[in-house]
Amino acid sequence: SADNRISRISSSIRVIPDFPKPGIMFQDITTLLLDPNAFKDTIDLFVERYKDKNINVVAGIEARGFIFGPPIALAIGAKFVPMRKPKKLPGEVISEEYSLEYGTDTMEMHVGAVQAGERALVVDDLIATGGTLSAAIRLLERVGVVVVECACVIELPELKGRNRLGDKPLFVLVS
Ligand code: PRP
Repeated sequence: SADNRISRISSSIRVIPDFPKPGIMFQDITTLLLDPNAFKDTIDLFVERYKDKNINVVAGIEARGFIFGPPIALAIGAKFVPMRKPKKLPGEVISEEYSLEYGTDTMEMHVGAVQAGERALVVDDLIATGGTLSAAIRLLERVGVVVVECACVIELPELKGRNRLGDKPLFVLVS
């Protein structure tokens, strides 16, 4: 059942206190990747949800969106588009700035990777403050893409990142 799969996924995620800084409970998905059943259940749950939603773009956020996004894209017959940290993509890019706890960061996407009117799913491992996902949504919407939903393995609900996505639906497996 879905519930059994969710509990297997949840228990395969390792929590490391005080990483990378004191007070942070790091949600380590590398242990999920070591459990082929949990990894497969993770991908299957997303594929079951998105296979019949006419999604033609899976946008994966660096770095861990590059782990979960491609198998979903292949299974639903969508292209995979990497949303990268600055100065990594060799072609012409469009960029979107977003705020961090201290300062700002930038996300980049290749011009021409997506077309206006295409339907996208945005994938990452985790939503904390929601700043990263909201930047990805803005970037895609600026070029006319329809962002159907965001999907993460983990949500940290106490940080209320969901509120930063406006009315954009967010689907998560583990809270
Ligand atoms: C983490 C996580 C998300 C982002 C979520 O990435 O993988 O991408 O933070 O945080 P937010 O909701 O507050 O924006 P990280 O900054 O660790 O970058 P990395 O995956 O490249 O290591």
